[in-house]
Amino acid sequence: MPRSPSRDLSDRYSGNRGYFRTPDRLRWWKYALAWLALGGAVAWAAVDVLKPPSVPASYAHTHGPLANVHGAFNNNCSACHVAHSASDFGPLAVFKTRERWHDLTCEKCHNGPPHHASATDEAKKFHSTCSNCHHDHNGPLHSLVRLQDDHCTRCHTDLGKWHDASKSLAGTPYQNKVTSFVSDHPEFRSLDPKAQPRTLKFSHSVHMNPGQAYAPGGKEAMTVGKLRKLGGEAAAARYAPGAPDDALIQLDCASCHKLDSGRGTEAFGRLKAALGETGEPVRALLPQRPEGAYYLPVTFEVHCRSCHPLSAPDGAHVGQTIPGEVIPGFTVPHRRKPAELLGDLKAGYLKGLLATNNPALAVPPEPGGKLDTPPKLGARTLAEETDRLAAAAQRQLFSGDGCAKCHQTQGSNETLSVVPVPNRTVWLAHAKFNHASHRGATCASCHPGTGGKTISTVDAAKPEPVQILGLESCRTCHSPLSTTVTLPDGEKLPGGGVRHGCTDCHRYHHGDLPMQGRGGESWFPKEPRDIADWLKAK
Ligand code: HEC
Ligand code: HEC
Ligand code: HEC
Ligand code: HEC
Ligand code: HEC
Ligand code: HEC
Ligand code: HEC
Ligand code: HEC
Ligand code: HEC
Ligand code: HEC
Repeated sequence: MPRSPSRDLSDRYSGNRGYFRTPDRLRWWKYALAWLALGGAVAWAAVDVLKPPSVPASYAHTHGPLANVHGAFNNNCSACHVAHSASDFGPLAVFKTRERWHDLTCEKCHNGPPHHASATDEAKKFHSTCSNCHHDHNGPLHSLVRLQDDHCTRCHTDLGKWHDASKSLAGTPYQNKVTSFVSDHPEFRSLDPKAQPRTLKFSHSVHMNPGQAYAPGGKEAMTVGKLRKLGGEAAAARYAPGAPDDALIQLDCASCHKLDSGRGTEAFGRLKAALGETGEPVRALLPQRPEGAYYLPVTFEVHCRSCHPLSAPDGAHVGQTIPGEVIPGFTVPHRRKPAELLGDLKAGYLKGLLATNNPALAVPPEPGGKLDTPPKLGARTLAEETDRLAAAAQRQLFSGDGCAKCHQTQGSNETLSVVPVPNRTVWLAHAKFNHASHRGATCASCHPGTGGKTISTVDAAKPEPVQILGLESCRTCHSPLSTTVTLPDGEKLPGGGVRHGCTDCHRYHHGDLPMQGRGGESWFPKEPRDIADWLKAK
């Protein structure tokens, strides 16, 4: 009879009943590790309780210390996290511990203004969990605001799903899919001249030529002598200090474009020095200057008037050509509405008429007897003559060489006016840009059309194309390292390597008003707190 297999099994234990007491390696390790874990836990708890207050608790309980901006709360978890409540100790609480750490109270100290009013409710829910984007506990130097692209592309891969078309502020929705700056990012819509047609006539080519002539050696060229006549000594000293009368005026970009920079202008510097001498608290009296990201606006008064003076024409009295009776032209103010301008013109001519011995001033004869009709005047009345001269001057100013030299005009007679000039201090309204960060590159790298060039008078009068290069030009630097860049002359070079994440160029909060950065009203919490409450983060 064959031996039963179960006997073979029991044979192993015969004479060895205490087999489970004999030490074996596996068991040894089990015990050792269990004790170690227990010892570690007790030691951790002991350190946690007994540690000197200077050691932050976060080292013991979290991924790590908080970012510098939140350094004051490193030891104060309830600044951001909701404190334990009785319900946290219920039977199911153990499954929710992680969730609990994501109940945050950031709005105590911050407002996190919304991205877009047109976002769906689901998008708003994503927004209200601040830790979806702001990852703290990654050490003091970790940036809370420089984010990986996937924070943005989770919605921008298919924007249609997240925006409520009935509330879209833009009218047209933005490009539906943007996943990376280097692959599918759209061309910059604000540079499209159709979006905001150019209404000012100005040619960089003409003005950057020596003497602002259409061609080198052009007859109309502006010389120092001519400029002195038009704009006075100050203008000559400003554009060509110490140059002889026949020298041509050469402008540079800074003649018209000044960065709104921390250094301020020369005049600002002088004012500061003068205030300092009188013991005035300079810093309290003068505004802080911003960082110099954008250029200050170009204005007619500061940048054009000295070469293009604006004046009313000489006015001749009806039927008179005697030189003494010509009412001399006079300077008129700029930026006037037609009705206001007419008032200025009347005032100017009236002054001229009163100053000359003008027949218009002939005193009308006294009416005769009661029943006589007043005799017809030989000369017009002062008011009539002023009106006539002013109306003629207005017509002339609004055409040809006057306002229309630089402006498009619209309407006629009473409705005549210049077409509004768009405010262009910020072109890329939906993104950030900073000239100070790009000062290492020449202006022509990004604005190649602004240099001096021979052009015809016809071309000079046409609206200029937008002089800011778009998407492709940015990608030469803002793309992955060793992207091949083709220069205008065809040469190929390895380029790229500069940051190109969404948050490098875009704001998130308050996307409807992207320029509203730090300090904007909408960032303030509902209730700012005093120092004690602030440090305790009550
Ligand atoms: C300035 C606000 C702030 C303070 C103060 C703060 N935390 Fe946090 N904590 C956060 C944020 C934000 C997150 C989410 C991080 C993420 O999801 O990337 C978080 C997450 C956590 C988590 C969960 C980590 C995970 O795995 O998801 C723990 C645990 C935690 N904190 C512990 C603490 C402790 C302990 C303290 C006090 C020493 C503390 N925190 C103080 C902001 C704070
Ligand atoms: C007790 C007050 C307090 C709380 C609570 C708080 N913060 Fe802050 N936070 C500050 C202060 C102070 C600054 C620095 C000044 C500023 O930028 O407003 C700051 C700065 C920031 C910044 C700007 C960082 C930078 O590099 O510019 C972000 C982002 C931020 N906090 C997010 C959060 C988030 C998310 C939470 C919730 C987890 C939170 N904060 C909770 C006080 C607080
Ligand atoms: C989709 C990602 C995202 C979410 C969600 C989010 N933020 Fe932000 N936050 C950003 C980005 C990107 C910046 C930096 C650019 C900017 O200022 O818009 C920022 C900046 C900030 C700043 C610093 C602003 C400054 O100029 O100093 C604060 C404070 C802030 N967020 C608070 C919050 C609060 C509070 C919440 C939750 C209600 C929140 N954020 C939710 C992405 C996000
Ligand atoms: C929760 C979804 C969501 C997230 C996350 C999100 N966006 Fe948006 N984004 C939207 C919506 C909705 C619109 C508005 C669409 C409309 O009005 O037609 C928008 C519009 C924009 C626009 C174009 C309009 C403008 O005003 O500038 C930019 C740029 C933009 N987002 C950048 C970002 C960046 C950068 C991030 C990451 C920090 C981000 N978005 C994260 C939903 C989101
Ligand atoms: C005589 C004054 C003057 C000089 C000099 C001048 N600009 Fe301009 N620039 C203007 C005016 C005026 C505008 C606004 C045109 C408009 O709004 O239609 C302008 C607009 C611009 C713009 C905005 C984009 C555009 O197409 O309107 C850029 C960029 C620019 N200039 C760059 C330059 C550079 C670079 C130089 C030097 C090479 C320069 N400018 C020299 C007067 C000048
Ligand atoms: C240094 C002198 C100088 C300055 C400053 C200057 N211009 Fe000119 N501009 C000229 C000269 C010279 C011409 C060519 C001759 C002419 O038409 O008077 C000219 C021509 C023009 C023309 C073309 C006129 C036509 O005949 O088609 C326009 C428009 C114009 N300038 C606008 C401006 C504007 C706008 C500014 C201020 C942002 C400005 N200029 C600043 C000297 C100047
Ligand atoms: C040499 C060029 C030049 C001439 C000539 C000129 N302007 Fe202008 N004008 C400008 C420039 C440049 C601006 C934009 C910057 C500024 O407001 O100074 C402007 C702006 C204006 C504005 C403001 C438009 C707005 O939308 O804000 C009005 C109004 C105006 N001009 C009226 C006139 C009138 C009226 C005349 C004729 C009497 C005239 N201009 C002649 C160059 C000129
Ligand atoms: C790296 C490319 C780059 C360089 C280099 C550069 N710019 Fe610009 N510039 C831009 C962009 C992009 C804008 C549009 C920014 C905006 O308004 O949102 C701009 C706008 C401008 C404007 C219109 C007003 C404004 O502030 O937006 C002027 C004027 C201007 N640049 C002048 C200059 C001058 C002068 C230089 C040389 C000292 C220069 N730029 C160098 C890219 C550049
Ligand atoms: C010649 C190379 C070059 C070109 C071309 C260039 N950039 Fe940059 N840009 C840089 C460098 C370098 C920085 C600084 C990067 C940093 O701080 O890490 C920068 C920074 C920036 C910043 C961050 C500015 C700040 O201070 O927050 C923005 C936004 C930006 N660039 C936009 C643009 C846009 C838009 C264009 C195209 C019109 C452009 N850049 C073209 C080199 C370039
Ligand atoms: C180097 C700078 C830069 C980077 C990086 C960048 N953008 Fe842009 N983005 C711009 C500029 C400039 C515009 C044009 C703004 C305007 O026209 O006013 C723009 C426009 C947009 C728009 C509006 C599109 C439309 O239809 O007009 C969206 C949406 C957008 N960006 C999303 C993103 C997202 C998402 C990322 C990251 C994957 C990103 N951008 C990365 C500079 C940048």
